[in-house]
Order: sequence, then structure tokens, then C-alpha cells
Amino acid sequence: MNEPLSPHCPRPDIRPCSLPLSAAERAALKRQRPCCIWLTGLSGAGKSTLANLLELRLNGQGLHTFILDGDNVRSGLCRDLGMGAEARKENIRRLAEVARLMVEAGLIVIVSAISPFRAERTAARALFAADEFLEVYVSTSFAACARRDPKGLYRAASEGRIQNFTGLDSPYEAPLYPDCEIDTETVGLACATDQLMALLLNK
Ligand code: ADX
Repeated sequence: MNEPLSPHCPRPDIRPCSLPLSAAERAALKRQRPCCIWLTGLSGAGKSTLANLLELRLNGQGLHTFILDGDNVRSGLCRDLGMGAEARKENIRRLAEVARLMVEAGLIVIVSAISPFRAERTAARALFAADEFLEVYVSTSFAACARRDPKGLYRAASEGRIQNFTGLDSPYEAPLYPDCEIDTETVGLACATDQLMALLLNK
């Protein structure tokens, strides 16, 4: 494969085989409407914490879920990818494709990744039906994230020990029209989780 392929352009040399069940039939067995809820924001903004709380809440209601967390996926499927712009684009593409497969399998998928680029998040959204994708901007400020610094990465970046750090020497493009915005510095975690549950129920 030499030419880069558009995500919406099927490969001419591949004939996808039809599957015996539709996404709707798989979802019906689970008695739920699958979707992808995509959390974007700076490192340390609270994405993973919110994703975990949301999954627990959904699971408690008998719903079938999975979390695709940037750090976790980068330990396996995306372990070959670094933090440069091209690698991040590929990371987001893979996350989006896996999320789409999981939605087809009938799951409610929570993606938690910095996903700093607008174009890649737009491409991710385009893989889903309009009512299947929710973008949540975890808008906790750089200053607050740097103060928290849960992994010591802000310090390492400011001392020049790691490069391409989001918000410092690598850009973060905030969503223009997120379905929901949560600043975990001003909104408590329980309240933020309520907000996400309400968002899912309204959709
Ligand atoms: S993304 O930009 O490609 O979406 P992703 O969410 O998968 O990033 O991974 C980010 C995680 O990698 C952060 O939570 C942090 O723990 C770690 N990390 C390591 N190096 C960096 C860096 N240079 N910039 C941001 N995060 C980094």
C-alpha cells in the first residue's frame, strides 16, 4: 500500500465482506443505543477520571461500555507511535476506527485522548452517524493542568526533558462546537459525570 487512503474511500483492491448481523441487531440484544463519547483536552485535564466515572455510572445502569484511553492504547495497538504531529494523527485515526468497530459491536464507547487536532477529530466524527458521536471538551486550563501535573510531565516538559508537549511546544486546537464543555477546575467530578449522563440521555 503506497498511496495514503482517505478514510471514506474504500480500497479498490479490497471487497469488504457482508456480515450476518447489522449493528442495530447487535445493539438490540444489549438493549441500548451504541454511541461514541469522545473526551478531548490537555494532559491532566481530567479526561481519564471522567471517563472512568462515566463508565462506572453506565455499567451500574446495566449498559455495555468500553473505554479507549490514549495512554492505554499507546501501550498496545499504538505502541509504535510517538508524540510528533503525524504520529498523533495516526493515533487518533486508529482510536476512531476502533471506536467505530466497537459501536458496530453494540457498545457505548468512551474515548479519552488529548486528540489535539480539529481536523482529526472531525474525521473521527465523520465515521459515525450524526446521533452516534458526542464531542466533550474537557477545557481545564493549561495553568490548572500544570499545577496538578499528576504524571510529572509538565515539569519534565518545562525542563526540556520531553519534547512535543501539548500546550507547550505542540499545539492544542480546542473544539469550536463541542456537544459539551467541562472545566474540572470549576465543576466537581460528580456534577460533571451527571452532565455527561444527561448528555447521553438527551441524545
Ligand atoms: S494524543 O495527542 O495522541 O491524543 P494521547 O491521549 O494518546 O495523545 O496520549 C497522551 C498521553 O501521553 C498523556 O496523557 C501523557 O501521559 C503521555 N505523554 C507523553 N508524552 C507526551 C507529550 N509530549 N505530550 C502530551 N502527552 C504526553
